[in-house]
Amino acid sequence: MLKNHGFDRRRFLQIAGIGALTAVASPRWLLAAGNGRYAREASADFHPDVEIEITATVTTAPILPGKPTKVWKYEGKLLKGLDGTVVPLPGTHLGATIVLAKGQKVRLYFKNDLPEPNIIHCHGLHVPQVMDGHPMYDVPAGSGYVYEFQVDNPAGTYMYHAHTHEATGRHVYNGLAGLILVTDAEEKSLNLPSGECDQPIVLQDRSFDADNQLRYVQNMRDRHMGFLGDEMIVNGKRHFVLPVATRPYRLRLLNGSNSRIYKLAWDDGTPLTVIGTDGHLLEKPVTRQYLMLAPGERAELFADFTGRKVGSELVMKSLPFSGAMPGHGMGGMMGMMNHGGGQGMMGMMHGGMMNRGGDGPARRDSSGAMNHGGEGAASQDEAGSGMMGHGARAQSAQGEDGHDGMDMMGTSALPLGSEYPLFKVHIMREETDTHRLPERLVKIERYQRSQAENPGQPRHIRISMAHMKWLLNGREFEMSAATPEETVKVNTLQVIEFDNGYSESSGMGMMSGLPHPMHIHGQQFQIIERVVREDSRKDYATVSQGFVDDGWKDVVLVMPGEKVTLLKRFDDYKGLFLYHCHNLEHEEMGMMRNFNVV
Ligand code: C2O
Ligand code: CU
Ligand code: CU
Repeated sequence: MLKNHGFDRRRFLQIAGIGALTAVASPRWLLAAGNGRYAREASADFHPDVEIEITATVTTAPILPGKPTKVWKYEGKLLKGLDGTVVPLPGTHLGATIVLAKGQKVRLYFKNDLPEPNIIHCHGLHVPQVMDGHPMYDVPAGSGYVYEFQVDNPAGTYMYHAHTHEATGRHVYNGLAGLILVTDAEEKSLNLPSGECDQPIVLQDRSFDADNQLRYVQNMRDRHMGFLGDEMIVNGKRHFVLPVATRPYRLRLLNGSNSRIYKLAWDDGTPLTVIGTDGHLLEKPVTRQYLMLAPGERAELFADFTGRKVGSELVMKSLPFSGAMPGHGMGGMMGMMNHGGGQGMMGMMHGGMMNRGGDGPARRDSSGAMNHGGEGAASQDEAGSGMMGHGARAQSAQGEDGHDGMDMMGTSALPLGSEYPLFKVHIMREETDTHRLPERLVKIERYQRSQAENPGQPRHIRISMAHMKWLLNGREFEMSAATPEETVKVNTLQVIEFDNGYSESSGMGMMSGLPHPMHIHGQQFQIIERVVREDSRKDYATVSQGFVDDGWKDVVLVMPGEKVTLLKRFDDYKGLFLYHCHNLEHEEMGMMRNFNVV
């Protein structure tokens, strides 16, 4: 397997520091590859099959009619390798799609031409720590980073996106994300629809101002709940229409939204045929009336339009569901009142009342590993203002939009859990085709709990909130720290559980009241159990038939009152690997920790 190719952390920090000092107002990538300005250089003993240059740049995209929208974009360029390895998506904010084959050795030259630090993470790929885009590797404006790794993942739909320290949400929102498609021999033998019938669908939501420019988080509630845009942008376009022929397609869905959760369904009631999840194809296709897709999750559909009338349309919608917004849905607010001793969510949020005694170890300790930029205050007040305190990124807590905080639905024109269309499929022409849905897809090695190092003592990750911060086991992000429970022996199988209020005996834990799509870096995992507490079951019933837990996953949606148990291997690479909420506002605010693989 690959090793750390002589990467020297100290030298990196030096370079990074110098870069930050010399960055100018309008930085440019001034220097050619290999002259010493990459925080991590290419190594002489790595012999790539594929070389790609990705430049993060400020540009515009014609997303709406009229004035183009200023976006940040990962522009891709193929330096070495087969045609079709880098597929640009001109006219959108989406990064070039990168098409790789299992086993390929890939060198990626990342150039940061943005006005601020940035780093890329290849989401779902099993790579060494220094190739994983941990925020500790942020490179300053005008600098870069060379990634070198061998593709170890099986065929599937992955992605790359910004993972910048305390800026992931804003960076991805500005456009810094793209797809990675991995192919392999087993997949090829299945003869799935290919070429133009293999169609990625990237679901995102955005808000625009009157000048067609992106509007991001408006107030503290937006940050706390996660950003919800006013309209759907699919594959970088408003009102996206997919023109198809009367034949089967492979639709690769990615939820690339910051925090929006979809309950996907065709408007005519046709069931969804799912053939793949986050990290590979399934053993066999499964059908669902609807499919839940949380931020970061992918699902591949076999969508057969055979027999449909030319000229007809089909709409992919998001259906209503509850339990995703506190105060809405059947159990939400009531549950909170019951358990919070009458202290409603509103009071909690606006009174800054999160530290009632016994509410878990919410307090930042004074070692303040969150201390980037001189924060790290331990007091309640400061923790509150610290959340708002990232310069101009967030504004005051008193919703400038005129809402007084009583409206927990937020200000999105598309409330989470409401019904709205996502995109249209337009049947354009007749075409006969011989692609059939295979009965069997790929082999999946099933993990057994008994094979784990800790079969009876799952690593328990409790989701909670205090001081308006989302916490994991009572802690927020620390750049390079891991607790003993977060320390894992390399080459072991681990039982891990994410607990979103399931085990809380009283209401305070339930204050989470929100779903959290939990993601673990490194290898894909298998979900083995979901349990839901009694008082959350009514809401849960509105989503529970939409999970596909039969395959490889790297994100799992954990609903309020739910506990999910999974099995995950930590093979090959020692070092720090993140786990975090893929609600990117939650992540940016510190709902992220490290596993230290030793
Ligand atoms: Cu897609 Cu650490 O994230
Ligand atoms: Cu990831
Ligand atoms: Cu979250």
